[in-house]
Amino acid sequence: MSSPLSAKQRVAQHVADLIEDDMVVGLGTGSTANYFIEALAKRQQGGLRCTTVASSVVSTMKAKSLGLPQISMEHLSHIDVYVDGADEVTDEKVLLKGRGSDLVREKLLARASNEFHVLVDQSKLVERIGQNYPIPIEVMPFAWQMVLHSLEALGGRGELRPNASGDGLAVTSHGSLVLDMAFGQIDVHALNAMLNAVPGVVEHGIFTGLATAIFVADHKVDVIEQRR
Ligand code: A5P
Repeated sequence: MSSPLSAKQRVAQHVADLIEDDMVVGLGTGSTANYFIEALAKRQQGGLRCTTVASSVVSTMKAKSLGLPQISMEHLSHIDVYVDGADEVTDEKVLLKGRGSDLVREKLLARASNEFHVLVDQSKLVERIGQNYPIPIEVMPFAWQMVLHSLEALGGRGELRPNASGDGLAVTSHGSLVLDMAFGQIDVHALNAMLNAVPGVVEHGIFTGLATAIFVADHKVDVIEQRR
């Protein structure tokens, strides 16, 4: 007997069923995105024609192992749909992303897509961004101390992210370092604008005005839609 699907698997299956022939589909990164890639590959085996573009090396490898056709980002100016998870989602559909190491590609694909479908379970719904996690901020390695100083002047507190084994620093796929910063109760839109303006910041994990639909799985899948 097969085991019951998790909430993440259910929401991934639900959204894979929405993909139509000839779409260019952006693949996110993380455990929920992995379930989506698996579900999309099953649909492709059932006859769906689509092309994918991955947001990370891990997603590229996953899609390749399942036989999904891929195109690299360099060849694209826009895509039909981007599908990814998130670490936090507010009522306003502001997202926190970036517990992984591929923020730059994730935000580029989210921005370049006609539709950005975000797949989460109930645990990701929050009242304010930063409630459960610090804000990941990718920085140019030589600028990290200056950026940290600027962020502290904005009220932030945090440090460089260590690597998985804890004996060095996490390095993103673009060679950036990551500052994980907490800013307390600050307005997220003001914070987004301030982070966008700090020299040396490559990208950060606040995604505003990008999600077109949030798919929330519990026992069933609820959809919270929003137009850009
Ligand atoms: C990847 O960098 C992140 O933005 C992920 O989208 C986020 O961490 C969600 O991950 P899970 O789907 O594994 O919860």
